[in-house]
Amino acid sequence: MTAKRSVVLGCGSYLPRKVLTNAELADRIDTSDEWIVQRTGIRQRHIAADGEFTSHLAINAARAALDHAGIDAQQIDLIVLATSTPDNTFPATAVAVQHALGINHGVAFDLQAVCSGFIFALATADNFLRSGSHKRALVIGAETFSRILDWSDRGTCVLFGDGAGAVVLEAQDQPGKPTDRGILTTHLRSDGRHKSKLFVDGGPSSTQTVGHLRMEGREVFKHAVGMITDVIVDAFNATGASAEEIDWFVPHQANKRIIDASAHKLHIAPQKVVLTVDLHGNTSAASIPLALNVAVKDGRVKKGDLVLLEAMGGGFTWGSALVRW
Ligand code: UT7
Repeated sequence: MTAKRSVVLGCGSYLPRKVLTNAELADRIDTSDEWIVQRTGIRQRHIAADGEFTSHLAINAARAALDHAGIDAQQIDLIVLATSTPDNTFPATAVAVQHALGINHGVAFDLQAVCSGFIFALATADNFLRSGSHKRALVIGAETFSRILDWSDRGTCVLFGDGAGAVVLEAQDQPGKPTDRGILTTHLRSDGRHKSKLFVDGGPSSTQTVGHLRMEGREVFKHAVGMITDVIVDAFNATGASAEEIDWFVPHQANKRIIDASAHKLHIAPQKVVLTVDLHGNTSAASIPLALNVAVKDGRVKKGDLVLLEAMGGGFTWGSALVRW
């Protein structure tokens, strides 16, 4: 029996030109390159220029993904954009992307699940495509976290960066076997009991301000590995796949220590782990498609490879996706 699958046709990304190194941060606040590298693996991050908005990053990433997929923008009938740093409270940043791409049909909307946003957007688009309601989707993660950081808080401002990544998905009939191409399974979770451990202290309804990111880093760290591994085990159980069968592990890039510990607990070999946290920092919803794009473009991720994605972030939210490239 055939199965409808959301097959990845291509990916793309965009990083703002300005690079901010750990050494530059150490000139401004009480931190050091040594502390940041040792505790997080981060060496630098990209920062959006004045007047460069989340939509601009997203549009560049979307165009790169369409080019890579060999698809004309007019063939896209669904845009799901994950962001916690939209251009405006409304309308959705996704409609700015839709407009810039010259698309007047179909539907475009934003989705907010903080660092898990790309996995949530991927799962949402997958459900639309498999239902038959839409044919081709752009799934985008785009963030300008530099705009919501408290640059005097060394516990958070050294961690985050700006960027965007995108994938193009197409609904295709596949044989209905574990060797099918496309998204094989997705698993999403949230638990609002943890909502005050990682949050922004402003918003239109509460303070009428944008606010700044606040995090109990150690508390987030404590929960991260367990939540990540649980939801990956869900993906393995749903598909019968095992850690040995995974070709590439492309995790949310928050902290190298969290990534290493998760891979170790799951028995995923270190050489299968795609790491970009050193160069990008934590770009929230953009981190997975940014990392994916690096590994696809440098030839690591190839057609037919089994790729495991995961993320965990504010809410808490967390999720996984298993994709045959
Ligand atoms: O993407 C969403 C999910 N977010 C995450 O996954 C982040 C999870 N949390 C983390 O990655 C880590 O908790 C951090 C990297 C944020 C912090 O690392 P840590 O090993 O948990 O450090 P800590 O918060 O326990 O702080 C240790 C020390 C403290 O000093 P004392 O109290 O021991 O004297 C901090 O004040 O390090 C100090 N510290 C710093 N020192 C230099 C905190 N930030 C800095 C800094 N530079 N930037």
